[in-house]
Amino acid sequence: MANHIEGKVVLITGASSGIGSALAREYARLGVRVAAIARREERLHELVEGLEAGGAQALAIGCDVTRDGDLERAVGTALERFGRIDHVHANAGFGVAGWFHTLSLEDYRRQFETNVFGVLRTVQATREALWASGGNLALMGSVNSFISLPGNSPYCMSKASILALAHSLRHEFRPRGVAVTLVAPGFVQSEIRKVDNTGRLNENAPDPIPDWLPMNADKAARQIVRGVCRKRRIVVVTGHGKWSVRLQRHFPGVTHAIIHRFGVSSRPEPKKAE
Ligand SMILES: NC(=O)c1ccc[n+]([C@@H]2O[C@H](COP(=O)([O-])OP(=O)(O)OC[C@H]3O[C@@H](n4cnc5c(N)ncnc54)[C@H](OP(=O)(O)O)[C@@H]3O)[C@@H](O)[C@H]2O)c1
Repeated sequence: MANHIEGKVVLITGASSGIGSALAREYARLGVRVAAIARREERLHELVEGLEAGGAQALAIGCDVTRDGDLERAVGTALERFGRIDHVHANAGFGVAGWFHTLSLEDYRRQFETNVFGVLRTVQATREALWASGGNLALMGSVNSFISLPGNSPYCMSKASILALAHSLRHEFRPRGVAVTLVAPGFVQSEIRKVDNTGRLNENAPDPIPDWLPMNADKAARQIVRGVCRKRRIVVVTGHGKWSVRLQRHFPGVTHAIIHRFGVSSRPEPKKAE
């Protein structure tokens, strides 16, 4: 990819870890100025120091996507520093895991507050700047935007909502010159599988996914940025993710049978390692 995005500005929510941090590093590598957003400001400062040491321009902005008004303030800070926003990644998210009968409405609300309303707040706060720049909006879905697993209904519902939002916004934003991409990763290395149903990170919790399966976050970020810059409607990341989405699209009955026959279910909520 030629560096046609050099000098542009990206705003990334959930940049303090995992895919969001990797996206920040990838954009910085391509000469894009980075507004990095998350709640853990010390992590963001470390990230920004690293990016600046490599010659990039970057800004750390503490912000909770579940709080009304936080994103408007964050976007104001980014615009004050950089003057424009060309790319937005509504990436912040976590997973509420569990079987339906073990969960409360509050669990579903908490999931939606971050994964759905957090994305809506991000789009609301950045819309004007994106319409002005004719930029790119990337909404973070998942393979679970397409396939729902047992034991994971809050997360799967939240990510299916983002797929629906991406479809609607693609039509609405197109006349404004803004391309909308749904990003749908399979397993990627990050902290997400160590974060419990309340959003708290349990550093020592074991990752239930075997080491060989998740894609490296930097590799995922390269593929995501390439797809977004090419204005792809949907970017599915990881080989296993691509196969799963294809299988569901063309043979939904087979997907259902596999899940049923082999008892495929989601990871459980992570607990602290003993
Ligand atoms: N990794 C995967 O296998 C995978 C697969 C499919 C989709 N995804 C999606 O990719 C996105 C990034 O996840 P990840 O895998 O990189 O997980 P991660 O390492 O746990 O990162 C999640 C990021 O979201 C931020 N965040 C969470 N709640 C927030 C809030 N209320 N306000 C602001 N920021 C918040 C966290 O920052 P703070 O805690 O500092 O606020 C963190 O930077 C998520 O939407 C996830 O659903 C991941």
